Amino acid sequence: MNKYIKILGSLISLIFIVTALIILYINFSYPNIPLDNSFKVEMTEQNIERGKYLVNSVNACFHCHSTVDFTKFSGKIIENEKGKGGRYYPEEGGFPGNFYSSNITPYNLKDWSDAEIYRAITSGVNKNGDALFPLMPYHAYKYLTLDDAKSIIAYLRTIKPIEAKYNKSEFTFPFSLILKTIPNKPEPTDKSSLTNNIEYGKYLVNIGGCEDCHTPSEGGTPDENMRFAGGFEIPMETGGICKAANITPDNETGIGSWTKEKFIQRFKFYQNNDSLIVKSGGFNSEMPWTVYANMTEEDLGSIYEYLRTVKPIKNRIQKFIP
Ligand code: HEC
Ligand code: HEC
Repeated sequence: MNKYIKILGSLISLIFIVTALIILYINFSYPNIPLDNSFKVEMTEQNIERGKYLVNSVNACFHCHSTVDFTKFSGKIIENEKGKGGRYYPEEGGFPGNFYSSNITPYNLKDWSDAEIYRAITSGVNKNGDALFPLMPYHAYKYLTLDDAKSIIAYLRTIKPIEAKYNKSEFTFPFSLILKTIPNKPEPTDKSSLTNNIEYGKYLVNIGGCEDCHTPSEGGTPDENMRFAGGFEIPMETGGICKAANITPDNETGIGSWTKEKFIQRFKFYQNNDSLIVKSGGFNSEMPWTVYANMTEEDLGSIYEYLRTVKPIKNRIQKFIP
């Protein structure tokens, strides 16, 4: 008997030591995403223009990194607070910690090298080497072509600096440890592979982060069998819950019956139309329609053409629950 207790005791100590070693190892060696110091951004007119387009229409950076007025449909981005950050994601809201969206104006980023900003956007590691919470869509931005990533950074360096600082992000254990393993290496899309509308549409859907909301996920891993079938729930400040729609080409429950014109018009309706007032408890959406509405009709058309090619899935969604 004594012998067994001894063995059991040693086993428990062993497990304890191994666990402690694993925790120490992850804590000190992750996230292990090296800086690519050869990454340099050219501040050309062309890069700045392209970056302005991507940030303000496809990537929706300011939907998170600005003050956003959600009494307006899909959130009105306050023009002179673009890039200021400060959207708060608290533990009471169901997040594993307390954090703010960062200030991405030159006030905060002026001392960051191009390589450091590139790593933050495409890998999720900040200047200090800390992992970023994956609400920041680095798992989507990792697909940015090198040219597009450079354009975004060039543009960010030209926006108005806004003085604003927030508390350091804090995460609860064990998520604080898991978070360190989430950053990913960039997988830049090869520009020369974007030869037709469908390929280009797929690229825009990737870097637009559409799947973050439109593909259901389990513990952060997207369900491959439910790609674009919707269902992700987001509680709205004005009351009620919006649910991401099924955007697969299923005829009954998805957007199978939509024409290309209808698709483009649905987005374009919100262009320069970001002041639609939402009554308390009325239909509101976290989908940044007013941002995506700034995409060209050509780009929206490419997105439509790509979405026609994904697997149709039957999944009826009630898009808003009052
Ligand atoms: C869905 C919301 C969301 C979108 C869209 C988004 N971000 Fe973020 N971003 C965040 C949050 C939240 C953080 C802070 C995460 C943390 O502290 O762990 C962050 C952090 C960052 C940081 C790190 C800054 C620092 O001081 O550590 C940079 C740089 C950044 N984002 C740039 C961008 C750019 C550029 C875009 C568009 C291409 C973008 N973000 C789009 C939510 C978002
Ligand atoms: C932050 C979450 C979020 C992101 C990111 C997002 N959506 Fe949505 N989307 C929603 C929600 C919620 C709805 C349902 C409510 C509504 O209609 O606004 C929706 C609705 C839609 C609809 C309308 C479908 C219908 O049946 O009425 C289309 C089309 C759509 N999204 C396409 C896209 C595309 C394309 C992207 C990427 C460029 C995208 N969405 C990114 C949350 C999101």
